[in-house]
Amino acid sequence: MSPTDNRLRRPERLAVIGAGYIGLPTAAGFADLGYEVTCAETNPTKLARLAAGQVDLHEPDLEDLVRRGLKTRRLSFVDHAQRAAGDASIVFICVPTPQAEDGSADLTFVESVVADIGPLVRPGTIIVTRSTVPVGTADRLRNIVGRRDVHVASTPEFLREGSAVRDFFHPDRILIGASEPVVRRRLGELYDVFGVPVIVTDIATSELTKHAANAFLATRLSFVNAMANICEAAGADVHQMMQVVGLDPRIGPKFLAAGPGWGGSCLPKDTRALAYVARQLGEPFTQLESTVRSNEAQFDRVVRRLADHLDGSVQGRRIAVWGLAFKAGTNDLRDSPSLEVCKRLVAAGADVTAFDPAVGAAAVSQLGFAYAETSIGACFGVDALVVLTEWPEFAATDPSLVAAAMSGDVVFDTRNVLDINEWTSAGLRLVTVGRSSPDPLNSSASANAA
Ligand SMILES: NC(=O)c1ccc[n+]([C@@H]2O[C@H](COP(=O)([O-])OP(=O)(O)OC[C@H]3O[C@@H](n4cnc5c(N)ncnc54)[C@H](O)[C@@H]3O)[C@@H](O)[C@H]2O)c1
Repeated sequence: MSPTDNRLRRPERLAVIGAGYIGLPTAAGFADLGYEVTCAETNPTKLARLAAGQVDLHEPDLEDLVRRGLKTRRLSFVDHAQRAAGDASIVFICVPTPQAEDGSADLTFVESVVADIGPLVRPGTIIVTRSTVPVGTADRLRNIVGRRDVHVASTPEFLREGSAVRDFFHPDRILIGASEPVVRRRLGELYDVFGVPVIVTDIATSELTKHAANAFLATRLSFVNAMANICEAAGADVHQMMQVVGLDPRIGPKFLAAGPGWGGSCLPKDTRALAYVARQLGEPFTQLESTVRSNEAQFDRVVRRLADHLDGSVQGRRIAVWGLAFKAGTNDLRDSPSLEVCKRLVAAGADVTAFDPAVGAAAVSQLGFAYAETSIGACFGVDALVVLTEWPEFAATDPSLVAAAMSGDVVFDTRNVLDINEWTSAGLRLVTVGRSSPDPLNSSASANAA
């Protein structure tokens, strides 16, 4: 990123409501681009730390960006949406949209912010949902605001945790959902700086597109996991298979890794929310509902396969878990596949000790299992090790240290990140997902034979 001192002061004044994974990069990013940004955050501890330039999210460069914004005074933090929105010309709503009990998106946070700010924003203000919301939300928000001189629009966020700052400045695409030409123009000017395709649609299409993108990703992963399970039964290798499948330009190589089941802060709730909306619209999305069910079964399958390698049961067995975050590069535990598996292990009577390089002991204190300060520390005296997040340091660990620490010899690599030959050479029984035998092309045995 280039220095910011000489950047222009921009005419729009921005408010960002919610300083979380998407709100904070949005607020600090636009401040870095020269906008005056006021960010509202209701969590008092988080607010105090942010005002002092301290960021608790595990996001590269985010703390520097926040500090720069504070130093230039273009970024400020306040404790209430009303204090941020009163002077703003564009208000970005970045508050949570969690899953309600019936699977729908719970819009309580979004609607209460809009009810709070609706009466006091200036004429011409654009209220933009950046939170992921179901189709039809903008209409509801317009009714809540109840003013013809205030606009409502949608610009869904596509950034990925772990690379939020990079994704803010270098997005793949920008989607603007707006009906009035003036709103399309003003938001278009705001996003013009990124030099990437800006697609402008009606609001319903924009709202639905974010859900479609996440449902597609989840379906793709469930497809790969289903193929992995078939590979296990057939003695085939899903890793090699997907390398070939991904070379088809119509498919592409990304998001084709088999694993313990997908999770994270978005895919589980967004797939269910879309399935709920589809049912409400009288167009049940049976394929997506089956994707969601098959993912639950994938978590069960991890526990069942581990039990198979421990004489049929995990009860009373000591299990080390490597990785708690839903993916490498983040400390976010929301709907993490690892926690899904850990919960099932604990429920089945296993004695679990976990380690994650980005998650501290405090975060797991309520979850019913122990926490170790190091990866090897988690392995002392255990019957089995399960790798559940693909942190690079796990693949770089010396397997002989693990073998020396463990009582048993079962290592279940649900992310396929460990080198099969190295780990089996250390005397460990490596169980993988969809790779029933060591890679015959790359194994040292075949290299020696050749
Ligand atoms: N996390 C992601 O990778 C990601 C990506 C794309 C879209 N989204 C969507 O963005 C939305 C927010 O997700 P997130 O991960 O940033 O959530 P988050 O929980 O990290 O952040 C939300 C923040 O909003 C604050 N907040 C709640 N009510 C508030 C209020 N009334 N006023 C001010 N602040 C308030 C919370 O304290 C919290 O800090 C969700 O709809 C999510 O689906 C998230």
